[in-house]
Parts: sequence; C-alpha cells; structure tokens
Amino acid sequence: MIFLKSLWEIEKMRRSNAIVAEVLARLRETIKPGITTLELDRLAENLCRKKGAKPAFKGYRGYPFSLCVSINEEVVHGFPSKKRVLKEGDIVSLDFGVLYDGYYGDAAITVPVGEISERAKRLLRVTEEALYKGIEQAVVGKRLGDISSAIQRYVEAHGYSVVRQFVGHGIGRALHEDPQVPNFGKPGRGIKLKEGMVLAIEPMVNEGTYEVEILADGWTAVTKDRKLSAHFEHTVAITQNGPEILSRV
Ligand code: MF3
Ligand code: CO
Repeated sequence: MIFLKSLWEIEKMRRSNAIVAEVLARLRETIKPGITTLELDRLAENLCRKKGAKPAFKGYRGYPFSLCVSINEEVVHGFPSKKRVLKEGDIVSLDFGVLYDGYYGDAAITVPVGEISERAKRLLRVTEEALYKGIEQAVVGKRLGDISSAIQRYVEAHGYSVVRQFVGHGIGRALHEDPQVPNFGKPGRGIKLKEGMVLAIEPMVNEGTYEVEILADGWTAVTKDRKLSAHFEHTVAITQNGPEILSRV
C-alpha cells in the first residue's frame, strides 16, 4: 500500500531529511586517513540525538549501528568498527537515516578518502549522476519504470552495472514503505507516479559484475568480484512542481 503524503507531512519530512543531510555533510568533512569507521558512527549518532532525532537504522531488523559504512568493494550495510581505519585512496559509502517527529529521512553519499584514483573518481561521478537521472523522472504522470530505467541506462552506458539485490523504497512514517524502487527496469512500466509520493532513490553501482555476496556478519554486502562499488541516495518528494529533493544539504 502506497501512502501519499500531504503538504504538511512533506514539510515534516523536509525536517527529518535536513538532519540526515547535515549529518552526512559533517561526516564528509570529518573523513580523513586514520579515522576509524566506529568514530564516524559515534559522530553521526551524537549529532542526530543533539537535534532531537533518533537514528533510524539502529535496531532495524537487528542492525546494530546508527550508520552504514561500506568501504571499496563493500556495497551497502557495512558495520562500523574500531578496527577499520580509513586509508588514503579508499572510497567510503555513508548511509544514514533518522526518525524525527514521526517521519523518516534517509540518504547516502560515497566519499573519497584523501586522493583517490581516476578510476574511483569516475565511478563516484557516474553513480551520483545516475541518481540525478532517476530523480529527473520523479514526475507526476510518469511511471516507476521511468525512474528505474533512466538509472540503469545511464550506468550501463558508462560500462558499469546496477545492483539488483537491493532497491530503493517509499518512505514516510516507516523507513521502508511501498513501492520498491529498483535501479533497473523498463520505461513506461510500473505504477503511475502521483503527487505526494515520497521515494528514497538509491542506485548502487558496481565496476564489474552486479552480483553481490553477504559476509558472515549477516549484513555487509560486497561485490562478488571484489571490484569497487558506490552508492548515492536521496529522499525525493513528487510534487506538482516536479521532484523535490528533501535530503539536499
Ligand atoms: N538506506 C538503507 C535502506 O534504505 C539503509 C538501511 S540499513 C538498515 O535500506 F540497517 F536499516 F537496514
Ligand atoms: Co534507503
């Protein structure tokens, strides 16, 4: 069941997503070689609580942390750890969500640690651009498949693959609502997009195969071929005036 949001609900979601965006911006500034991923988790949770919000992921289906930190070949849902020290050349995906005043916010960015290779830079750029290609299609009267196919087409045109095993989602009073928002599909297919839908659009893009494996911790998804992966996510409201990115910094 898809819940359409009223203007006042979208206003609440602007606030929860603004907190997510601020936290991600702070994490991006803080990232440097030598920092541990558990320090990032602590910082995210502290900033979030200071703003009166609750970290959305902690305890969600048993997820034990506030932040997902996925390095290099890790795709999503990486565990923060005091043993994981970031080093120059890594790419790190930071996925964060909050619950504030009854509504969720959810976004992700992938950031460079120090100087990174041209190869990694290109992956980050194409993945973020693919997210914007999808967002452009989040327009009243278009269909869900228009979002999915725009992302897939852009990614594959650059020689990369889109992960199939994880998808974007509706978001609102729950972190995950209908509909599912795959990053692959056919234009003109799927449900019609309506005013008041709020979607978390989140392409996960791999350099090599789209196939992923889950590590023994039961959460961390890695690329099967251990090549690099990147992830960008925004929470987007479909409005009469076009797509509104609620999680923009
Ligand atoms: N942005 C991710 C998602 O929407 C993060 C979920 S992590 C979890 O699925 F721990 F909450 F599952
Ligand atoms: Co999400």
